[in-house]
Amino acid sequence: MKRYCLFLTLLLLSMSAMTLWAAQKTGEINYDQARWDPLHFQPAIATATNEQCLNCHQEVLKREVLVKSPAGVVAVNSLAWYQTLSTYEGPQKTFHQRHLTENLAKKLMNMKCNTCHQGNDPREQAVIPPDHEQTQYTLRKQVNPEICLMCHGDFPDYKVMGLPSEWNTSGAIFQNNCLLCHAGIRSNRHQVNYLNAEAIETAGKENSDVCFGCHGGRQWYRISYPYARHSWPGIAKEVPEWAKDRPTESNPRFRITNQKTANK
Ligand code: HEC
Ligand code: HEC
Ligand code: HEC
Ligand code: HEC
Ligand code: HEC
Repeated sequence: MKRYCLFLTLLLLSMSAMTLWAAQKTGEINYDQARWDPLHFQPAIATATNEQCLNCHQEVLKREVLVKSPAGVVAVNSLAWYQTLSTYEGPQKTFHQRHLTENLAKKLMNMKCNTCHQGNDPREQAVIPPDHEQTQYTLRKQVNPEICLMCHGDFPDYKVMGLPSEWNTSGAIFQNNCLLCHAGIRSNRHQVNYLNAEAIETAGKENSDVCFGCHGGRQWYRISYPYARHSWPGIAKEVPEWAKDRPTESNPRFRITNQKTANK
């Protein structure tokens, strides 16, 4: 009997060793290992490529929107206000597709998974009552909404722009053309790694909805983003009151000038 048990134990041991070996050989990992893959967290996520994330997450690009909502609302018949901009094209697509694989996104932007995803700890990101102290936690949000604000904020203060009213009502006076002023004002712009600066200027010349789209036309927030105020040829020496607390360079994470010089 004793010998039989020993035999069984050895058999089991060698079997598990073999499974482990096989798993390592094929690169197979279980759910928990995948869920806690170091790539999800800092520092690895900062340099992760889309391909690395998509190895496991093809679903974020493949999944399609429902033809009909569970309540029976037909998707094609229910365009939201932000889908009525003249730049909106094609059938409804998911959030990830609209930012990564659809035409407008591919033309104007160059977003990566880690432009938005900066790593989040699923175990510790919620404030657990009655603790009211750890309010920095974003309650299981996987992305800091400040990122969204950069392109989905309100139109910046029209008074600062010298416009008589909001763009909706004053645009016509300026031929609905942002570049009437912005060909020369704040012309040093969009030098960040998630935007295609040149393509934006070309597209903006043809249609100012391209510009307005990211500066009020797809507004999700009541505030506008406090953009860095880069110096431009012709800038006045005096910094206006409203701009005193503004940075003069983009968020370091997004700058391209550094990388360009580093690659040289
Ligand atoms: C080895 C496979 C693997 C890789 C590589 C991977 N993930 Fe995941 N990820 C998972 C699994 C498994 C889950 C859990 C999914 C679930 O429970 O529905 C997950 C969950 C997530 C979630 C949801 C988190 C939450 O709190 O619920 C996000 C967001 C995410 N991954 C983004 C990324 C990004 C961005 C990358 C690349 C930097 C990445 N993942 C790389 C396997 C992976
Ligand atoms: C424009 C910003 C943005 C980009 C770019 C982006 N994501 Fe997301 N992602 C989000 C947001 C916002 C959510 C929802 C977060 C929440 O519910 O808190 C999300 C959710 C997810 C989830 C979990 C829910 C789901 O839809 O399955 C996964 C996994 C994920 N993203 C992976 C990726 C991968 C992989 C990439 C790159 C190919 C990517 N994301 C690019 C913003 C982004
Ligand atoms: C760099 C600019 C940029 C950032 C950052 C950004 N978006 Fe967008 N977003 C866009 C553009 C451009 C479109 C329009 C895409 C189109 O019309 O094809 C869009 C479209 C959308 C839509 C409409 C999708 C649809 O099918 O109509 C939603 C919702 C949205 N964004 C939410 C978010 C959220 C939430 C975040 C932050 C996690 C975010 N966006 C970050 C540029 C951005
Ligand atoms: C009448 C001229 C004029 C027109 C038209 C105009 N702008 Fe401006 N805009 C300005 C001026 C002036 C500033 C502030 C310059 C400074 O920093 O001193 C400004 C600032 C901005 C800023 C930065 C705001 C901030 O808080 O830092 C953005 C973004 C912007 N404009 C986008 C647009 C877009 C998009 C359009 C078209 C939909 C547009 N502007 C039309 C004159 C104009
Ligand atoms: C895809 C979204 C997108 C489009 C399209 C877009 N912008 Fe922007 N814009 C941004 C973002 C994001 C920033 C902030 C970048 C940074 O942090 O440096 C910005 C910054 C600016 C600024 C501040 C410049 C500064 O001092 O750094 C101005 C002015 C501006 N945009 C005007 C325009 C005009 C004019 C157009 C059309 C030709 C336009 N934008 C099109 C997203 C967009």
